[in-house]
Amino acid sequence: MKVLAIETSCDETSVAVLQDEEILSNVVMSQVQIHEPFGGVVPEIAARHHLKNLPQIFNMALEEAKVELKEIDIVAVTHGPGLIGALMVGISFAKGLCLALGKPIVGVNHLLGHTYAAKLSFPHLNPPYLALLVSGGHTELLLFKNDPIEAEVLGRTVDDAAGEAFDKVARLLQLGYPGGPAIERASKFGDPNRFRFPRAMIEKGNLNFSFSGLKTAVLYLLRNEEKFNSFDIAASFQEAVIDILVWKLIHAAELTHVKKLLLVGGVAANERLRQKLKEECSRKSFEIYIPPASLCVDNAAMIARAAIDLAKIGKFSDLSLNAVPDLSF
Ligand code: KG4
Ligand code: ZN
Repeated sequence: MKVLAIETSCDETSVAVLQDEEILSNVVMSQVQIHEPFGGVVPEIAARHHLKNLPQIFNMALEEAKVELKEIDIVAVTHGPGLIGALMVGISFAKGLCLALGKPIVGVNHLLGHTYAAKLSFPHLNPPYLALLVSGGHTELLLFKNDPIEAEVLGRTVDDAAGEAFDKVARLLQLGYPGGPAIERASKFGDPNRFRFPRAMIEKGNLNFSFSGLKTAVLYLLRNEEKFNSFDIAASFQEAVIDILVWKLIHAAELTHVKKLLLVGGVAANERLRQKLKEECSRKSFEIYIPPASLCVDNAAMIARAAIDLAKIGKFSDLSLNAVPDLSF
């Protein structure tokens, strides 16, 4: 089965071609430089750039895969959650393709897509597993009991997402956008134990997250200190986020007795988070599955891989497929 997938939910324009579980191409064009002067993604600008760039990314993906359009069996597309205008560009393009090719369309939940980055990297991975999904818009603890497409949400953030906290604190520290990689780089020069920021909601039985207090703690520190070392603040902030994420995932595993743990989403690209989670899992004898950083950030290959499983059980969409900006599990 050959699947062509389109991902335009935020500021990455991506098209991938998969032959069953093998990635033939996964072209990602980031708009980071375009949004950087604004300190965050500007929805209308994101949509306009998807509209402009998608045809070119589409051609590149087919070329790199050495596949002709007529060989495609299924067209997959992210239909939410995400920015409405950005999603609509991808969906409209996918619908046009399906009409022209006479092939079926599969709408994919972007959050499910992130968990399939782990399936792409570890093909023999099967539920039961717990997934910690940490991205710019989401922080969710998901339990997949016996089906890789059906999740029970065990916990989620009650305010900011983990990636959002990285982005906001990077802005406070004037480290640039996107904040996650900027904080990670700055942290390398700082002392993670210099400031003890709060670790909210670390209490038994609570699998929800809260990051807004942490961001406010950084803000107050900056207001009160005349001189500060932003590397130390970045490192101490990053350490607090990592402590929370690692503690919650391990606690969820202990509560559910599930041994296989997945870390996915853009924040999973963070090297120190990956390292600390691996160490904790090895100490507690849990199996940890973390995709390479290139599959953690938004990309169409993960959407294509999810679509294959959806298609296998007949979960096709039709041409009335619409964008659902607040789609959840
Ligand atoms: O999954 P993703 O690419 O897009 C969404 O679906 O949101 O995640 C983007 C988020 C951004 O908030 C970005 O700052 C964060 O992931 N991020 C990181 C790192 N790389 C990206 N956060 C921490 N460390 C990183 N290395
Ligand atoms: Zn994402």
